[in-house]
Amino acid sequence: MKELVWDRTLSVEVEEIDEDHRRLIKLFNLLARAVAEEEDAAYVAALLEELVCCTAWHFRHEERLMLKHGYEERAAHEQEHSELIDGVRELQRDFLATGKRLADADIEYLERWLAEHILVADMPLGAHLAGLV
Ligand SMILES: [Fe+2]
Repeated sequence: MKELVWDRTLSVEVEEIDEDHRRLIKLFNLLARAVAEEEDAAYVAALLEELVCCTAWHFRHEERLMLKHGYEERAAHEQEHSELIDGVRELQRDFLATGKRLADADIEYLERWLAEHILVADMPLGAHLAGLV
């Protein structure tokens, strides 16, 4: 099983955001491991819910920082947040409704979902906030 590892290449240079990202990566790894080890569905569902809630909370955190520091790309970034949450909620709904196991493809989707958000969307936000927070 492939684990996501947080390192300096994932840093957005704002400690409070990096701290959230490390937490999300830790939850993702727990979920990926639970799926690989075929843990029972209730445990996987609990981890998925924790990841979704933690991500939603993290997005509110970033949105507050964007507001406080007048980030010009705020509307686009918030739009991306809402699409990311919709995507993972859909995966979660399917999982709960069908009772099927999460597949490797679902884990790969979540991995991309997390890494791309950090690497693509949060880097310019971090650059804007660095030194301000
Ligand atoms: Fe983020």
